[in-house]
Amino acid sequence: MQFDLIVVGAGAAGLLCAGMAGQRGLRVLVIDHADKVAEKIRISGGGRCNFTNRDAGPTNFLSDNPNFCRSALARYTPQDFIALVQKHGISFHEKHKGQLFCDDSAEQIIRMLLDECAQGGVQHWQPCTVTDIQQPERDGGGFTVETSRGPLQCSRLVVATGGLSIPKIGASDWGLRLAQRFGHKIVTPRAALVPLTFDAQDWAPFATLSGLSLPVIVSTGKGKTQGRFVEDLLFTHRGLSGPAILQISSYWQDGQPLQINLSPDADLATMLQAAKSDSKRQLGNVLGGLFPQRLAQAWLERLGLPSQRPMPECKDKDLQQLAQQLQAWQLTPNGSEGWRKAEVMRGGVDTRELNSQNMESKRIPGLHFIGEVMDVTGWLGGYNFQWAWASAAACARSI
Ligand code: FDA
Repeated sequence: MQFDLIVVGAGAAGLLCAGMAGQRGLRVLVIDHADKVAEKIRISGGGRCNFTNRDAGPTNFLSDNPNFCRSALARYTPQDFIALVQKHGISFHEKHKGQLFCDDSAEQIIRMLLDECAQGGVQHWQPCTVTDIQQPERDGGGFTVETSRGPLQCSRLVVATGGLSIPKIGASDWGLRLAQRFGHKIVTPRAALVPLTFDAQDWAPFATLSGLSLPVIVSTGKGKTQGRFVEDLLFTHRGLSGPAILQISSYWQDGQPLQINLSPDADLATMLQAAKSDSKRQLGNVLGGLFPQRLAQAWLERLGLPSQRPMPECKDKDLQQLAQQLQAWQLTPNGSEGWRKAEVMRGGVDTRELNSQNMESKRIPGLHFIGEVMDVTGWLGGYNFQWAWASAAACARSI
């Protein structure tokens, strides 16, 4: 069987690309090895899919080639996807910092993409495994795709197999291996948007804080590779999570410390100093008025300061140390919760060998990569789907 375009991976990027290309009159087939399409959309945003971010722009993405994403993001904007969502009558709301979620269910986005594919006459083979890809000797001669359902021919092949996170719902390294086989470099894949863990012994004083959440400023790295976020942090049994930590995890490198300000809106040293003159108050209730009680207690125990100590008896040096520790807490993770818990992959197919206009390989004409399989990783908050849509549209419009 002959197709103009075969898309491997029926996820966010693959389905949008297939639908758009089909509606342009191309004969399109989508292949996925999973039983169900777009499992990551289904589980995204707590089942409501944070499908884009109103403010998405190039600065919200990490890549070894940071300018690569500019063109695609500018040509298919959040407003373009919102228009599609509105055309399908899907109601949505903004939750936090430009993040848009379905009012009802992520299934609506999947249905919308499948409707768009149906309108473009796109065929689906699923579950179906691609066993081999052969490229004829001459350039531009297309591809032979061997599958568990028989051989296929296509003029263009789009790899939309996503990242490595959550292997139990279909993630695979197939796209990365194929890229390598065709001579592409891979930027080392790493789990990102992922909870961070600490050495069990070091973490013991904080493990009792599991479940506690508070707003913080978290940062790591220096210069161009620095990340800094003002978001909520969540203590867990094994380490730290919550939006602040998921965001910073994408910037964190092995062995690098994090700096955390647990009281971003206050000058703690001045406040503790001012409370010193209050003879009726003790250190424990002053700190407990500024932080969740459990956190205040854990910190005093850690620094060996008695919570019942009357404020006037507190030494300036101790109060300064306390303020310093709480506002410039420095700690080094020993790792992350890994692919099982990561929302995305950082790294992927090196974009320096791809055309930013249509996502085509500069090495193999007719071979395209879209979505998360490429080395473009968005922040938490709808940015990764926006990259899936934008890269898919760039590809579909140009072939
Ligand atoms: P995607 O993963 O969507 O699709 C890849 C497809 O390829 C899958 O259907 C897979 O089965 C298929 N495939 C893989 N290997 C194959 C092979 N060898 N042969 C055939 N098919 C193969 N982002 C966001 O912006 N907002 C959000 O709310 C969330 N929420 C979220 C929650 C959770 C728990 C996770 C894990 C991730 C998110 N994300 C997110 C990230 C978002 O889901 C992700 O970035 C996009 O789905 C990436 O789209 P792709 O199409 O590139 O891959």
